Parts: sequence; structure tokens; C-alpha cells
Amino acid sequence: MATVTLTDNRNGKKYEFEILSPSVGPDVIDIRSLYQTTGMFTYDPGFTSTASCSSNITYIDGEKGELRYRGYDISDLATKKTYLDTCHLLLTGKLPSKSELAAFDLEIRKRSFVHEGLKNLFYAFPDSAHPMAMMSSSVSALSAFHYEHLDIDQEEEFQVMARRIVAKIPTLAALSYRRSLGIPFIYPDIERSFTENFLYMMRAYPSAKTIIRDVEVKALDTIFTLHAEHEQNASTSTVRAVASTGAHPYAAISAGINALWGRAHGGANESVIAQLEMIGSVDNVDEFIKKAKDPDDDFRLMGFGHRVYKNFDPRARILKNLLDELKEDLGVDSELLEVAKKIEEVALTDEYFIKRKLYPNIDFYSGLILTALKIPKSLFTIIFVIGRSVGWITQWIELKHDKEMKIARPRQKYTGPVSKKI
Ligand code: CMC
Repeated sequence: MATVTLTDNRNGKKYEFEILSPSVGPDVIDIRSLYQTTGMFTYDPGFTSTASCSSNITYIDGEKGELRYRGYDISDLATKKTYLDTCHLLLTGKLPSKSELAAFDLEIRKRSFVHEGLKNLFYAFPDSAHPMAMMSSSVSALSAFHYEHLDIDQEEEFQVMARRIVAKIPTLAALSYRRSLGIPFIYPDIERSFTENFLYMMRAYPSAKTIIRDVEVKALDTIFTLHAEHEQNASTSTVRAVASTGAHPYAAISAGINALWGRAHGGANESVIAQLEMIGSVDNVDEFIKKAKDPDDDFRLMGFGHRVYKNFDPRARILKNLLDELKEDLGVDSELLEVAKKIEEVALTDEYFIKRKLYPNIDFYSGLILTALKIPKSLFTIIFVIGRSVGWITQWIELKHDKEMKIARPRQKYTGPVSKKI
């Protein structure tokens, strides 16, 4: 058994902890008995050095810029498979055969309708409501319509619940969007594929023909695949923390949606495009790079940097290639693309960014494609939600099967007053 020894240099006491090896990636020190044996906690704000669980879903090598779902490279999945293939892979551990995919696809199509009563919820929101607020509330409200999912413990039940979530989230996303514009709600069209149906639910008007081009479906489907899973990020850890209490799965996913909303996480894609518009021209890039480097200025270059990737985010690379391939067909805003490319070029050769290993992340390029798909900025994080819903629920299922899981309950280093009297 490999161990690591911790020496307390106050009294010379030595403690041994086992080193556990994953299938690939850095070893981990098993400190579960640390408090019991030493009376001490670890201190790790933001969990930069803490593995909170075992997982066999996603592997990231941040130094090399690699990402794999269930062992498959993200680039292969994004270029050779569809989002629904990826959903099947994540949920079952296996890429589907042709007939399995057809059955899975049909099930998702059939489950895409939401209860009629749920629509009333959307009427209660003010016109100014952000679609993410409606999204998280409506996913939470699903727990009132599918209360039976509170008491599930069998894989078959987990899979039904998971498919409901994957199928209904695009419908709720479209309802959020349509409510924000005050336009009539549209039912899913189950003749259409998952991604085409989402674009249809966004764009369609009653009794008018809706045009959705294959190139648009391909671009958005790739974006969904790239967002599908990303191991223990902030929103997934939130889903797991809520799930660890035994709360309803829809409550856990709704909490994940709220965690994703922040600008440091999924909200970045909305901020990137706002920032590119603000920069406006390649001539202004240097000025904004200077601001981003100024320690006295809060300004950050949105779409740059990542907690795990200390190299090019592989998802950003795939999106950059996709943009180059489809920019003409999609009608990507060439001025904004020029600004983005200039920022990337300047940042990648600048000492500040090189030293801190700040590379473009997935959000840097996704907004340009989404804008070309005529998806408004306020919907960008919703697109992330649609893609990531399968990852969250896959992690939820894994947690439910994990015999070592306990309620998430970190400790703290207390710094307040010791004792006061009234
Ligand atoms: N622009 C300028 N400086 C930056 C940036 C940036 N985008 N990101 C990090 N830094 C600097 C930061 O100021 C710090 O400098 P110093 O060491 O001098 O204090 C250093 O780099 C390390 O930053 P950090 O905040 O300690 O790093 P972190 O791992 O805690 O944060 C991050 C990662 C993604 C929150 C951060 O890089 C960031 O805020 N990026 C912009 C927002 C963004 O694009 N988010 C999307 C992430 S990818 C999609 C997702 O997973 O949700």
C-alpha cells in the first residue's frame, strides 16, 4: 500500500495516509480519517486540490488540454457523433447502435412535452424576467409534476427520470424565451430531431413556415455536445451537493442551473459577446488587454482562463475550427470574429497571459456561433443548460450508486470571536 506521511512539526507526531490511484490522472491522498486521527481539517478554498468523489464519467487533462467522456475524445464525439449519441453514452456508458439510437431518440421526442399546467407558471413572470430565472424556476417546478421521482432507487427509474430531464429542458428553454418576447407558446414538433426541434420551438410562428438549415442544426448540435459534461465544476458540484441531501432530482438540477448562471461559469458566454461588442474594433483590443492586466482594475477578459485547463480548452479549439468551416454558411459577424481573433492573438503572445496560462475557453467562441444562429445573448447560458443537463443528471445517478457518498458537509477555519456574553 502506497502511503504519504504527514509530520506535525509542533510535536514530531507522524500520521500515515493511503495514496489511491485513479485509472488515469494524478493520485489522490485519502484523508477521510484526517480529523479523527489528527484533530485537524484541511484548508482548500475553492477546492483547488480536493477530489470530492470518485467518478468514471469524464476525464480532463488540463495541462495537455484533453477532455474525454467515458473514455472517448471530445473531438471525435463532436465531429463524428450527434448530441443524442453523447447523451446515450453518458447515461448508459455506451455509444448506441443504430437501433438503440433510434429508440432513444424516439423516447426523447415523446417525452419533450411538458404538463399544460406548467405553462401557467410562465405567465406569472414579468416581461423583464431573465430567461435563466424562468428556466431554473420551471425546472424546479417539474418536481411538483413528477413527484414520484423523489423516491426512486432503481437504475430503470433513474433512466426514465434522466430522459425526462434531457427531453423537457429544451421545451422549458423555448418557453422561457417565448415568454420573454411575449410571443405565443409552441408545442414540440416530434417529427424533428432534438436540436432541430429546439430551433423550431424558438423560431416558429403559428401557421407560418419555419426554415431551419442543416448547417444551423450541425453547429448547435456540436455546441450541445461540447457542453454536455465537464466533471466536478461549480454547477455539477452544486447538483451533487443538493443530491447528497436526498433532495428531489429536479431541485438538484435547478440548483445547478442557478450555479451555472454566474459570470465566472456559464454566464461567461453572455459576457463574452457583450465584451466583444464593447471592444468593437481591432484597434481597441490593446486598450482592453491593458485593462485586463491591470491589478487595480476588476476587468477580466471574458472567455479566457480556466480552473482546470492550463492549455487551450479543447472545446474552444473545436469551436474555432467549426467557425472557420461554417462562418460563411452561417453568416457569422465578421467584424466581431476579427476582434475575437485579434484578442486571441494578442493574449497568447502576452507575458501576463502566458505566465498565468490563460487560454481561450469554450465561451470565447460559442457566442459568435449562437449570434449567427439568431439566438439572443440572454439565451446563451440557457444553451449551456440544455447541453449540460445530461451531464448533471448522469452525475446525479452516479452519486446515487456510490456507496461511499455522504451528505456534502465541508468544514471551516473559524475566524470569529471565541465567546461573548450578553
Ligand atoms: N482576464 C484577466 N486575468 C485573468 C483572467 C481573465 N479572464 N482569468 C484569470 N486571470 C488572472 C487573475 O487575475 C489571477 O491573476 P493574479 O495571479 O495576478 O492574481 C490569475 O489569472 C489566476 O486567476 P484566478 O481567478 O485565481 O483563477 P481561477 O482558477 O480561480 O478562475 C476563472 C478561473 C475561469 C473563473 C477565471 O479565469 C475567469 O474569471 N475567467 C473569465 C470568466 C470566464 O471566461 N469563465 C468561463 C470559464 S469556462 C466555462 C465554464 O466552465 O463555465
